[in-house]
Amino acid sequence: MKREQWNSQFGFLLAAVGSAIGLGNIWRFSYMAYNYGGGAFLIPYFTALLTAGIPLLILEFAVGHERIGSAPLAYAKIRKNWEWLGWWAVTFVMFGIVLYYMVIVAWCLNFFFLSFNLGWGNDPNTFFFKDFLAVSNSPSEIGQIRTPIFFALLVIWFINWFIVHRGVQRGIELANRIFMPLLFVLTAVLVFWSLTLEGAMSGVRAYLTPDFSRLSDPRVWIDAYSQIFFTLSLGFGIMIAYASYLPEKANITRYALLTAFINSGYSLFSGVAVFSVLGFMATTQGEPLSGVVSQSIGLAFVAYPKAVSLMPGGNIFGAIFFLCLVVAGLSSSISIIEAFTSAMVDKFGIRRKRLITIVSILGFFGSVIFTTQAGLLWLDIVDHFLTHYGLIVVGIFECILVGWFFRIKVLRQHVNRISTIKLGFWWDILIKYFVPLVLGIILVGDLYTELRKPYGGYTWASLILIGRDWILLTLVAAFVIASRPWKTEHNKTGGRSKH
Ligand code: ALA
Repeated sequence: MKREQWNSQFGFLLAAVGSAIGLGNIWRFSYMAYNYGGGAFLIPYFTALLTAGIPLLILEFAVGHERIGSAPLAYAKIRKNWEWLGWWAVTFVMFGIVLYYMVIVAWCLNFFFLSFNLGWGNDPNTFFFKDFLAVSNSPSEIGQIRTPIFFALLVIWFINWFIVHRGVQRGIELANRIFMPLLFVLTAVLVFWSLTLEGAMSGVRAYLTPDFSRLSDPRVWIDAYSQIFFTLSLGFGIMIAYASYLPEKANITRYALLTAFINSGYSLFSGVAVFSVLGFMATTQGEPLSGVVSQSIGLAFVAYPKAVSLMPGGNIFGAIFFLCLVVAGLSSSISIIEAFTSAMVDKFGIRRKRLITIVSILGFFGSVIFTTQAGLLWLDIVDHFLTHYGLIVVGIFECILVGWFFRIKVLRQHVNRISTIKLGFWWDILIKYFVPLVLGIILVGDLYTELRKPYGGYTWASLILIGRDWILLTLVAAFVIASRPWKTEHNKTGGRSKH
């Protein structure tokens, strides 16, 4: 079976940027920046980008391109008994992260429609938690499925199925050719509009003024590293699969740098819109900014709607904001489905279209748990465990596998042969020693904090049964799939380099 290919390398770049830019950039990034002392968050954020994000992105592009395979195939071609690592990444992402990710995109779709008549009323906080989500008291009280979310979820899964089903060129590449320009234009409209609002500057100042005292808090560093993994889609297996669809000649380092900088630039830029709006709200309500911001999820679904209701023409502003989230979310979710699909096609030679239909149906039903009254609580726990322990652990193992079980020099020479920006010996050092060490420290720090105090005030039982077991289950699944025999011949061929 011939491997799918991008129509053009620009199409690949758009798809990689589309995967990177997602809910993480608009919703997660802004709230973290605010929470961790405005501009001071940018220091750990950029440190994480430079010390782990970019070297690993180059690594993932290089591995996918040189070994010509999705994550499990590429790893199996490096060391047969490391295939599980690729399966683990694509499995916990496909049967973990994407399940709740789709539900958040579904909320955004609901809120897009609600925007037109400011359907959240005068008290968006009560509306979001009590009327819309009807959150239960604990993760074990599942309650009922929330019908509007359920139907929005159906639409979102359908759109995903529709795009990925059409293939790499006519589906993913084409969708990103539409989504990315649309997203940039809509975001620019939001940023410029928000800057004209009264008090906008006070918000921007809060966003960009550093509070250096926060830098001594290890959590800022832990969150900055996990944010970089999430936002660059690292450890998801996506960038490996995407790079495997590139032709022989491809400017790998240039694409990695462009993807990383466009992604972070977008986060910084869209953050301006978020904080100008918060500044406006603080000014109109005569409150300090710290009084109007609710944390995490509340920022997009509570604080923003509140501000939109106060703004002239706010309904249009709100609709554009939620449309941005939907578009950004879709361009990332399709990449996740593709990473898993690509892996299954490589190993079992299953017909792509049929596989995508099955995966989408299973995914939809898997997502349903997050549309129940306990959905928000489950989402919070699963997100915490998978992004903190799944992604970072995959990152560490990737470095070990490539740095210690493969001749990393061969990979670097491969990249240098086809790229305009050359990698030096420093890259080998980063991958072999520095990145795994830094990630290891982050991981230990994270575990230490975790064990001292249960995350989010949940009971240990909920954290273990939902969070830890979700990770373990996907790990077992990964080993089971990896132990199955190959139905294709792909694993018998090597990579593009001769060594
Ligand atoms: N990289 C994607 C995001 O930031 C997953 O949302």
